[in-house]
Amino acid sequence: LRTLDDISFGGKTAIVRVDLNVPVEDGVVADATRIERIIPTLRELIAKDAKVVLLSHLGRPKGKVVADMSLEPVAGALEKAMGRPVRFVATNWRDGHAREAVKAAAPGDLLLMENTRFHPGEETNDPELVAQFANLGDIYVNDAFSSAHRAHASTEGIAHVLPAVAGRALQAEIESLSLALENPDRPVFALVGGAKVSTKLDLLVNLVAKMQAIGIGGTMANTFLAAQDRPIGRSMAEREMLDNAREVIHRANEAGCTIFLPIDVVVATEFSAGAVSRTVSVERVGADEMILDVGPATVALLEKALKHMRTVVWNGPVGAFEVPPFDQGTVALAGAIADLADAGRLRAVAGGGDTAAALNHAGVADRFSYVSSAGGAFLEWLEGKALPGVVALRR
Ligand code: 3PG
Repeated sequence: LRTLDDISFGGKTAIVRVDLNVPVEDGVVADATRIERIIPTLRELIAKDAKVVLLSHLGRPKGKVVADMSLEPVAGALEKAMGRPVRFVATNWRDGHAREAVKAAAPGDLLLMENTRFHPGEETNDPELVAQFANLGDIYVNDAFSSAHRAHASTEGIAHVLPAVAGRALQAEIESLSLALENPDRPVFALVGGAKVSTKLDLLVNLVAKMQAIGIGGTMANTFLAAQDRPIGRSMAEREMLDNAREVIHRANEAGCTIFLPIDVVVATEFSAGAVSRTVSVERVGADEMILDVGPATVALLEKALKHMRTVVWNGPVGAFEVPPFDQGTVALAGAIADLADAGRLRAVAGGGDTAAALNHAGVADRFSYVSSAGGAFLEWLEGKALPGVVALRR
């Protein structure tokens, strides 16, 4: 992978694809994690005397100009994080404003272009839009790992037209994730939670072949429990996925990968904050009860297994962590893994969807070895898929 070290930026214009697809509530950025991650790349390019042109999408405007998906409020948040001016360029990608703004800028200036998805050619990877993006500068820098699973004009197409390198954030993602999956210290443990077996089947099949052990929690564990003829009462589960769940277990047995399912669970007859709950063995879930978290015996079982591991990869909360008291399993496991990571016993990597939010809720995100900023891209990487945005940089 070529990086910022491999190319000279002095006096050049760097087109930097970043992922500023951040939550914006009432015009205010609600989580600045993705903004903070790109700061090192931007500072380095400015120090190297480049003009810096930022491209990003926000939301899914489907090729149209949608006012509440404008990147303008994000420019303000970026300006604060950088401590220097960010010129926001309003454009519909048909009006030539982007090109004019770049021409008028000086080395060291930082420009943020309007949402790339305001043009339909972004998602179709339209060569005309690719050429338009490429015309804005001399060198392409991709610092958006979390968008690398999309083969779009600004994430993939442009890398074929300009000299293309990885920014520091993308580089850190790849390095950290390879240390967890391609090239890890073994044994490796995957902790997989979340809602659906159906959306994580490819991921499980890939992990079963690579990991020494997998702990399954969250709503998807209910499907596995049902597949083993455990009573799951009124729990959410995918009845049509029982055979798939059995197949995962079968493959794990063949590959020598140990699968841990919950042995005790927290159940309630009602899913709401502070609902009356009880902890029971998985044999004793009542017909009118729902499984909403893993219990302390399961946490202890997983903790014991983790003590023998050198690497852990975590995707997906193991309970309904947004609604206390059903956050306790996730919080306890997050703490246990953070302690092991602190003690230098293992490398702990996490990412995908709700996972970063769950670790923040547990207050341990900064004690993990690495927390990916990616959602869908992290999942596709766990599935063993090649990410088009990264592949294009390797050419
Ligand atoms: C993400 O938030 O996962 C990325 O920004 C990609 O967004 P998308 O799923 O709309 O392509």
